[in-house]
Order: sequence, then structure tokens, then C-alpha cells
Amino acid sequence: MPRDNYAAGFGYQWNQHRLTQLDSHSGIPISRNRLINQSRWSFAELRGKKVLECGSGAGRFTEVLCESGAEVTSVDISSAVHANAASNGRFPNLRLVQASIYELPFPEQSFDFLFCCGVIQHTPNVERTFKTLFRYLRPGGRFCVDVYAAVIAYPHPRQLLRPITKHMPPAKLYALVEKAVPALLPLSLKLSAVPGVGQGLARLVPVANHRYLGLTDRETVRSWSVLDTFDWLSPRYEKPQTRRRLQRWTSELGLREVSIERHRGLYVIRGVK
Ligand SMILES: C[S@@+](CC[C@H](N)C(=O)[O-])C[C@H]1O[C@@H](n2cnc3c(N)ncnc32)[C@H](O)[C@@H]1O
Repeated sequence: MPRDNYAAGFGYQWNQHRLTQLDSHSGIPISRNRLINQSRWSFAELRGKKVLECGSGAGRFTEVLCESGAEVTSVDISSAVHANAASNGRFPNLRLVQASIYELPFPEQSFDFLFCCGVIQHTPNVERTFKTLFRYLRPGGRFCVDVYAAVIAYPHPRQLLRPITKHMPPAKLYALVEKAVPALLPLSLKLSAVPGVGQGLARLVPVANHRYLGLTDRETVRSWSVLDTFDWLSPRYEKPQTRRRLQRWTSELGLREVSIERHRGLYVIRGVK
């Protein structure tokens, strides 16, 4: 991949936060629980199977997939693959490739499972990305893909900042976020603790707040907030999708046993090809 692709900000982000979200670093199975909740796959059914993970970032889910004993092929378009290699290169069942979903160097229909979470809303053409992914899954293979949900009822203040921040050089934006988080996170945490309306109130403050994850250590809370605030503000593309559009795409692809579930701000799409 050219060094300067549209996802260079992600490369910067994941090399700054190589370990932050890895379960082996936090000691809490947040990524493992999310992967299992979203995919409903068990380790027993993954063991020995060919899994394609697209857009792996620093490898929080790569680690979990490798631990299942699957034969994992993990790709990312950005220099995040270096962070992933540093953390997960120890797994003999991992093949890690820097490549775009649009130009994957693998035979079509060659994977048993497809996992792609946190990715497709950040690509230039979400429909094309979604449909391309399935070329690599074999008939009968299972998939789990998620995408930001387009929900008109909850505009987010980051949308006011993104027209400026998405064009900023990553290091400059990162320095700003590092300053803003200690100033704004305490307010966001106080607001989110208000019974009943806390979550809605906290949304008024444009920093990521992971109170719902139950993180306790101060440095961990700060670091997750810096990471995810940067992750809101820096991507070149952020294109949430409606349930109706997802239903159309899955039926055009002839996918089976499809479920589209709302998980917080995401739609999780599962099923069989
Ligand atoms: C928000 S991060 C999510 C990373 C990881 N899945 C996670 O949840 O921690 C999105 C990732 O998708 C990658 N990405 C974006 N467009 C891509 C493409 N066309 N092909 C492969 N990876 C892509 C970015 O480089 C970035 O690492």
C-alpha cells in the first residue's frame, strides 16, 4: 500500500496505542466478550478454521481469534499492521498482511469465517466494501460485520468538529486530543453518572467516555478516552448506515440466516453465505 493512503491517521493511532485495547494488556476480556457477543461464534467452532479478519487495527480481535486456535488471516490497509505484528506476531497461526479490502491478495471463496468490525463506515464506498468482503468467504461460510448505525435521533457534537479535524495532520490532532481529554473527561464522567439521563448528557461533551465498560484505573480510562476521541475525529470517512440499506445489501448478495442487531451505536450483521 502507498504510505499515504486515506487511513494514515489510523496507522498513527494504532501505533500510538498499540496495547491500550488488547485484553492481554488490560487484563479484562473486553475484546473477547465483544467478539463473542457480536459474532456468537464459539472457540470450539473456530479452532482449525480459516478466518479472514479485515481492518484489524492494533489487533485487539486478532489476539482473540488467534487464541481460539483458528488459522487467522488478518489485513489492514494502514501501518497499524506493524503494531499488530509487534503484539501478535508470536502466534504461529497468524498471517498478517498490509492490504486493502478492495485488493486482497487471496483466492476468492477461500475462508470459512469473515470478521470485520469497526471498519466499513470508514471506507470511501461502504456498499462496495461490504459487498467485496463476501467474495472471499466460501459458500456456507459465516460472517460478522458491524457498522455505525445511522440514527437521526442522536446527533453527536463530534460532527461539528470533524469537517476541520479530519483534515488535520494526525500528530497535530493527537496533541490537541491529549490536551482536551484531561480537561473534559471529568465533566463527561460526572454527567454520565446522572441517573436516567446520564448517557444523553455526556454526549454533549465531545470526548469518548467508556464508563459503561467499568474501567477503573485512571490511566487506563484516560488512555481509552484519548484513543477513541482521536478515532472519532480523525477518520477521513465516517458513513453510518441504515438498517434498510443493510437489509437490501444482504438480500442482493443472497446471504442466509441474516440477523441485523442494534448494539449501542452499531448494527451487527451476522449470517451465512
Ligand atoms: C476503527 S479501526 C478498527 C480496528 C479494529 N477492527 C478494532 O476494532 O480495534 C478501522 C481500521 O480499518 C482499517 N481500514 C480502513 N479502510 C480499510 C481498507 N480499505 N482495507 C483494509 N483496512 C482498512 C483502518 O486502517 C483501521 O485500522
